[in-house]
Amino acid sequence: MVFLVLLLLAAFAQVIPRYVCQSNEYPFSGTVPLAIRSPYFNTWINATGPNTNLPNFWTGSETPCTWSGLVTIDGVTWSWLGAANDGLNVHNAIIKSSTITPTRTIYVYETESMDLTVTFLSPIEASDPVKQSLPFIYLSFEAKATDGNVHNVQLYSDVGADWMAQSPYDSVRIWNSTGTNAFWKATSKQMIPLAEISNQAADVMLYYATQNVPGMVQRFGSDIEGHTLFSQSGLSGLSRTATDQTAIAGNVDVFSMAFDLGNIRATNASIVWTLGLVRDSSVSYTPTSGETQLRYPYYVSQFAHVEDAINKILGDFDSAAKSAIELDEKLLNQSSAISAQYMDLVSLAARQTMGGTELTIALGSDGLWNISDVKAFMKDVGSSGRINPVEILYASFPFFLYIDPPYAGWLLAPLLEVQESTSQWAEPYAARDLVCPTQKLGDVSSG
Ligand SMILES: *[C@@H]1O[C@H](CO)[C@@H](O)[C@H](O)[C@H]1NC(C)=O
Ligand SMILES: *[C@@H]1O[C@H](CO)[C@@H](O)[C@H](O)[C@H]1NC(C)=O
Ligand SMILES: *[C@@H]1O[C@H](CO)[C@@H](O)[C@H](O)[C@H]1NC(C)=O
Ligand SMILES: *[C@@H]1O[C@H](CO)[C@@H](O)[C@H](O)[C@H]1NC(C)=O
Ligand SMILES: *[C@@H]1O[C@H](CO)[C@@H](O)[C@H](O)[C@H]1NC(C)=O
Repeated sequence: MVFLVLLLLAAFAQVIPRYVCQSNEYPFSGTVPLAIRSPYFNTWINATGPNTNLPNFWTGSETPCTWSGLVTIDGVTWSWLGAANDGLNVHNAIIKSSTITPTRTIYVYETESMDLTVTFLSPIEASDPVKQSLPFIYLSFEAKATDGNVHNVQLYSDVGADWMAQSPYDSVRIWNSTGTNAFWKATSKQMIPLAEISNQAADVMLYYATQNVPGMVQRFGSDIEGHTLFSQSGLSGLSRTATDQTAIAGNVDVFSMAFDLGNIRATNASIVWTLGLVRDSSVSYTPTSGETQLRYPYYVSQFAHVEDAINKILGDFDSAAKSAIELDEKLLNQSSAISAQYMDLVSLAARQTMGGTELTIALGSDGLWNISDVKAFMKDVGSSGRINPVEILYASFPFFLYIDPPYAGWLLAPLLEVQESTSQWAEPYAARDLVCPTQKLGDVSSG
């Protein structure tokens, strides 16, 4: 049977950290999710040191996903994400509370004069296949004075080229600040479609975007230099100039954006970034007809250009946050009625279960996107790497049947279809998964 390829998965395999937490109790131990939208967009961080450690892909510290946040308040710089304090005169904001809900990981930090709230939102939009298939998450930031006074605030964040699997990162980078939103886009010149390198997809484009507010500046270059410039010279060390089409030199080159929030008692609205890891086709699949087809994320039926999707995603932040809070409340209310431990488990597992899958469509016989032809693929992330393994589907079905029953059908469809085909499945018993040429999809060497 032929299936193939890249994709997906995962459900519970990985790192289920020790126990975790939906409460406001601090500290809790282990690793917590920051950005979980697909088997290839699956980033975690040390729960007790989110502003002193690098985030990493689920495979661990050998696959860092550099992501930093700094804020300068009245001339003093504080780290609120990543290891941005390395060797610099940057203070670590103190964690006041940390909360894990099914869709969000939230840290509240204390600095000398302001509290900071940092929220990582991985949307679960099971009943909206366009939104569910968009491989983007939100990072939002709020600050509020604890002494009632006005403070002078500058905010900085960056992401590293190391989110892309290819090393060295011989890539193309584009900075665009001409629209309502400004974004970095980075791609590798060595993209290998539908291939994995150490479990990471070798065909991703990295996007980091935010509102194009006046006075925003950007920079591309080494992470330490960027952090040093910001902490020592503020925004003046960064620039507004557009740059593009340049090779990425080092493994820790970062794409930065920074703004001046001015003299404030509080941010009156969240400052929002969206981060995306976009692939072109999701999977190569051979259905009953025996003709291999490329399948694409569902959202392509709605957005011809990723940039249009980004504008929509940033514009939708308020409603995305509201629907995440409603879903969290519903899941937490209902799971807590069973037990506190069950509530914790649901908080940890929900986005991981959704994020083990990719929701796809293909072109119809008329050459148009066929949204009646929906199939979902799940990768057993973290252990076997198998695609749509029946025992993992079985384990995850309570969640899919709860959250959106059609999703269960979309996951079963490719398994049933392939078994219908005598050319692809000649056995007298049911298939245990969609067989791939190499049982474990990782370790595709380049070239
Ligand atoms: C997690 O971060 C804390 C605080 O920085 C540190 O003490 C601890 O060693 C880290 N754990 C791991 C496994 O790196
Ligand atoms: C930059 O953004 C503008 C406005 O959204 C768009 O017209 C243009 O094509 C973009 N350029 C690149 C290189 O993406
Ligand atoms: C706060 O609100 C004012 C007026 O609505 C607006 O001009 C300003 O940009 C806002 N500031 C922030 C940091 O959101
Ligand atoms: C969850 O429970 C809280 C407290 O009982 C209640 O205020 C809220 O409306 C409930 N939310 C949902 C979605 O049921
Ligand atoms: C769209 O997909 C459905 C379900 O697979 C199929 O029945 C229909 O023929 C397809 N339409 C086109 C135009 O290919």
